[in-house]
Amino acid sequence: MTGNHGADVISALPLWRAEEDDMLECVQIRAEARDVKTFVFRAQPARRFAYLPGQFLTLELPVAGETVRRCYTLSSSPTRPDRVAITVKRVPGGLVSNLLHDTLRPGMRLRVIGPAGDFSCAGRPDAGRLFLSAGSGITPLMSMCRWLGDLGGPFDLVFVHSARSPLDLIFRDELAGLAREHPGLRLQYLCESRDGDAGWSGVLGRLDAGLLTRLVPDAGQRQIYCCGPAPYMAAVRAALADLGCDPDSYHEESFDFTASPAPAAGPVAASAVGAGYKLDFTVSGKNAVAAPGQTVLSAAAECGMRIPSSCSRGVCGTCKSRLAQGRVDMKHGGGIRQREIDQGFFLPCCSTPLSDLVIER
Ligand SMILES: Cc1cc2nc3c(=O)[nH]c(=O)nc-3n(C[C@H](O)[C@H](O)[C@H](O)COP(=O)(O)OP(=O)(O)OC[C@H]3O[C@@H](n4cnc5c(N)ncnc54)[C@H](O)[C@@H]3O)c2cc1C
Ligand code: FES
Repeated sequence: MTGNHGADVISALPLWRAEEDDMLECVQIRAEARDVKTFVFRAQPARRFAYLPGQFLTLELPVAGETVRRCYTLSSSPTRPDRVAITVKRVPGGLVSNLLHDTLRPGMRLRVIGPAGDFSCAGRPDAGRLFLSAGSGITPLMSMCRWLGDLGGPFDLVFVHSARSPLDLIFRDELAGLAREHPGLRLQYLCESRDGDAGWSGVLGRLDAGLLTRLVPDAGQRQIYCCGPAPYMAAVRAALADLGCDPDSYHEESFDFTASPAPAAGPVAASAVGAGYKLDFTVSGKNAVAAPGQTVLSAAAECGMRIPSSCSRGVCGTCKSRLAQGRVDMKHGGGIRQREIDQGFFLPCCSTPLSDLVIER
């Protein structure tokens, strides 16, 4: 009775619209593993979230008079649409991960952009899946795993997660519960050491082709989803190449966008010929020339201007800047809202100048 009433209330909520909605309130914090916490949020005002399992939010935090932006995957499942959650691992010396761990409390609010991103098993073949993750890279795969579990139907999934030690295994109890409930889910942990759990009886070591074949003999027949630190993902790609896996069956997400190639610049605007356009940066006093077809971000970097950036493809909103004068051709992927464009903001990573520009940076 209560559950159905709750579901009715949630389904009556207006949908979260990334174009207009941006405020979340923290409602719960959970410790998940060493240096890892989950932060659960509801929308303010109340909204129902619709997203693909595996998508991320960009947090916009005021720090020392500036807006700092970082992306965090939604570890929650879209099947529970009144809340979203992110699961954050402390990065030694890192600004935002430590700020969230040390200062974010239930009742506090923060601004976000998104959800965005295209790393998801939703809408892809579901014959058999293999999830490969390491460290905090488990978050998009956990979202997908929760989603598959909530959908209720049978599924065939091998989930291989790597961690430094048993103390660093994120979502261990919840995944064990899901595996008990769903016979189609097979869990396999790999730890580099037994630290903190001398009785650890799981596999010790790092993933390579030999270990993968032993743990998942039919890996080559599965749709593979991978997320983790860059060296881990490089090792996975090498192992899969050794095993002759079909590259079309392999999907990955990097938490370091700079590790993946930026998209090619769009076609050169007809007017942007010859010497290119002049860029003046009002705060730093620097200036640059953007060659025909060159993005503002890339031209800025060449003159030593370090505009904060992450995805380099107009998705995360990290590079958002104010354009005081001039016109750009911007091909964004959701990292900026129309109302921000109307207020004079733009994304330098996916914009090529259509005139000389004056930029507030
Ligand atoms: C799509 C996407 C999804 C993500 N999802 C998650 C997730 O679910 N969970 C999660 O925990 N993370 C996730 N991340 C990573 C996250 O966005 C942050 O990068 C991470 O939390 C570190 O941010 P930070 O501000 O704490 O560290 P930063 O301040 O950005 O620092 C990062 C590193 O650089 C070093 N550093 C910083 N400043 C300097 C300097 N001046 N000189 C030298 N070194 C320096 C720091 O010591 C640290 O090692 C995701 C990233 C992306 C792109
Ligand atoms: S760096 Fe992501 S939108 Fe520009």
